[in-house]
Amino acid sequence: MSEVHLISHPMVQHKLSIMRQKETGSKDFRQLLKEISLLMGYEITRNLPLTEVEIETPISPMKAYRVLGRKLAIVPILRAGLGMVDGLLDLVPVAKVGHIGLYRNETTHEPVVYYCKLPEDIQDRLVIVTDPMLATGGSSCDALDMLKERGCNNIKLMCLVAAPEGIAKVQEKHPDVDIYVAAIDERLNENAYIVPGLGDAGDRIFGTK
Ligand code: PRP
Ligand code: URA
Repeated sequence: MSEVHLISHPMVQHKLSIMRQKETGSKDFRQLLKEISLLMGYEITRNLPLTEVEIETPISPMKAYRVLGRKLAIVPILRAGLGMVDGLLDLVPVAKVGHIGLYRNETTHEPVVYYCKLPEDIQDRLVIVTDPMLATGGSSCDALDMLKERGCNNIKLMCLVAAPEGIAKVQEKHPDVDIYVAAIDERLNENAYIVPGLGDAGDRIFGTK
C-alpha cells in the first residue's frame, strides 16, 4: 500500500488557507501555489540519492555531496499541474519536464487524454507527477497508467488538496506510488468537486472563470 504524506508544515498550511479563500485572485493564487510547491518539493525529494564528489574550498580539498538532479522528471497534469512546476524547478533546476494533458468530462467526470510529451529517458528517472487536485482520482490514475506503460517504476504523486475518494483510488490502482498532499478534505460533492476544497484549480490559476 502506498504511503500518504500529509505536509503539515505551518507555512504550507498558512499559504493553502489563503489560496482556498474565494476572494484570492489569480496572481496571488499562482504565487502561493509556486511557494507551496517548493516547500512540498523539499519533502518529496528527501530521499534523492547523493553522490560523493571531490571539491576544493578556498581552504582545502574535501569530499562533498551532490544530488543527481538529472535523474528527476517533473510531469504536470495539464492544466492545473503546471502551477506546481516552477516551485519544483526552483529546487531542482536541472530536472526535465514532461506534460500529460487530461481534462475531466463535465458530465461523466471521466478523464480524457489530449496530450502526452515526455523526456526520452523518463523510465530511468524519479518522476514527480503534479496536480493540485486529487478528486475522484481518475485523472491521476490515468496519468500514472501512461507513465507505467512507458516503463516508469519510480513515481511520486504531488497534490495540494485531496479527497478521501481520490486517495483510495490511487492506493488501490497504484499501490507503489506514494502520495504527497497538503490537505485531505471531507468529501466530493455531486459534481465531483472537493468539499471544502478551493474550487476549480485550473480556472483559479489561469483566470478562466
Ligand atoms: C482538474 C484537476 C485534476 C482533475 C482532478 O482538472 O486539475 O486534473 O480535475 O479530478 P479527478 O481526480 O476527479 O480526475 P480539469 O479536468 O478541471 O482540467 P484543467 O486542469 O485543465 O482545468
Ligand atoms: N478539479 C478541481 O479543479 N477542483 C476540484 O475540486 C475537483 C476537480
